[in-house]
Amino acid sequence: MSKKICVVGTGYVGLVAAVGLADFGNLVIGVDIDKSKIEKLKKGISPIYEPGIEEYLKRNLNSGRLTFSTDIDNAIQESEVIFIAVGTPPKENGEADLRYVFDVAETIAKNLNNYKVVVTKSTVPVGTNRKIKDYIKKLSGKNDFDVISNPEFLREGKAVYDFFHPDRVVIGYESEKARKIMEDIYRSLYLIQTPFVWCNLETAEMIKYASNAFLATKITFINQIANLCEAVGADVHEVAKAMGMDGRISPKFLHPGPGYGGSCFPKDTKAIVEIGIKNNIDMSLIKEVINANEKQKERMVEKLEKYMDLKDKKIGILGLAFKAETDDMRESPAIKIINKLLEKGAKITAHDPKAIENARKIFKDKIEYVDNEYKAMNDVDALMIITEWNEYRNIDLEKARKLMKGNIILDTRNVLDIKKVKALGFIYEGVGRK
Ligand code: UGA
Repeated sequence: MSKKICVVGTGYVGLVAAVGLADFGNLVIGVDIDKSKIEKLKKGISPIYEPGIEEYLKRNLNSGRLTFSTDIDNAIQESEVIFIAVGTPPKENGEADLRYVFDVAETIAKNLNNYKVVVTKSTVPVGTNRKIKDYIKKLSGKNDFDVISNPEFLREGKAVYDFFHPDRVVIGYESEKARKIMEDIYRSLYLIQTPFVWCNLETAEMIKYASNAFLATKITFINQIANLCEAVGADVHEVAKAMGMDGRISPKFLHPGPGYGGSCFPKDTKAIVEIGIKNNIDMSLIKEVINANEKQKERMVEKLEKYMDLKDKKIGILGLAFKAETDDMRESPAIKIINKLLEKGAKITAHDPKAIENARKIFKDKIEYVDNEYKAMNDVDALMIITEWNEYRNIDLEKARKLMKGNIILDTRNVLDIKKVKALGFIYEGVGRK
């Protein structure tokens, strides 16, 4: 049976969940305090760039199953299930800031007019769902609700696909009544035999952190192996491919690069270290992953410095987003790399198919932005690829050679064909391959 659901927060996680849950046949109200976002969403315009999202948004708006509002009180009263999908940004010390999550919990307590299931989708430290439960109980003086931990495993850029084809759905729960409701909500996934992991609240919270910390570790591992490959003359792609043939290792997330970024890995690795400190448990491995990831970004600048003193040099940058298929600049390796280049006196001309608007908020007028990749090559001493956008894989290298003043290409994502690049007289630097 379809359910009446309210999703609080219309960022990446909330918006995809709202659209996806409506597509499963539920009646969904997406709410946000940001009026301009809600106005856009009502018109079927997505405030974020995410492939496929607008098609699903429009389809579900038209069907009447999906609506948007800024009236959170009313949306909660009208719904049986409330998804909390607000941000948990890192505080100075790396701990997750739970202010917005508890604001929503307070609003739920105020509007608890009948039985409700409160589902936490936001990534929250272990123990938070229990605190949410106690908080709502204390503020409302009622017991007529259940709390569920349902962490999100979506990848930006592939979020819509991931929502409909998850590797697994993790649900931390305490009451059978709430479990039945979650089964109803996700019935469509049940039908296609998606594995469901039913566990307690703390286990669900831990699965999320452990998964992200493991993936961040895997990337950092291959980055260090790539650096070693450079030193000993091995090719990291062949190494990673052969490693991945071992079923115990798996080939995914073994692509070397300029270091991981985004809104999740940097935040969640810091948060799990904080959880370790609070519980007096050694998290030295993940601490070192965080350090090594910062060094990997710096290494990209050092690679250029092997060839030139950066003072007054013109560097063309292709790609600013933290990965392809997103306009998200949060913790993008481009931020540290470009700031370092600027510190050393370089002049930057940058292109990105989607992230320029967000990049402007960070670099302001300290760098030049161009709307075409070839304009980023004009008269530059070196060209650096930071994001693996498909369009950079097929750049016209002959044209690049003519446009560039220098002949150095630093391909931090290993997207170019080395033979072709070298045949044109470029000096090529990648990550872990010669
Ligand atoms: C990540 C997880 O993959 C999702 O499962 C999770 O739901 C999400 O965090 C979250 O916690 O919300 P996302 O940050 O969107 O998703 O992006 P990823 O595709 O995981 O990439 C993260 C970073 O690692 C990017 O900077 C990417 O370029 C880098 N990366 C990824 C590599 O350098 N090498 C790889 O092989 C894979």
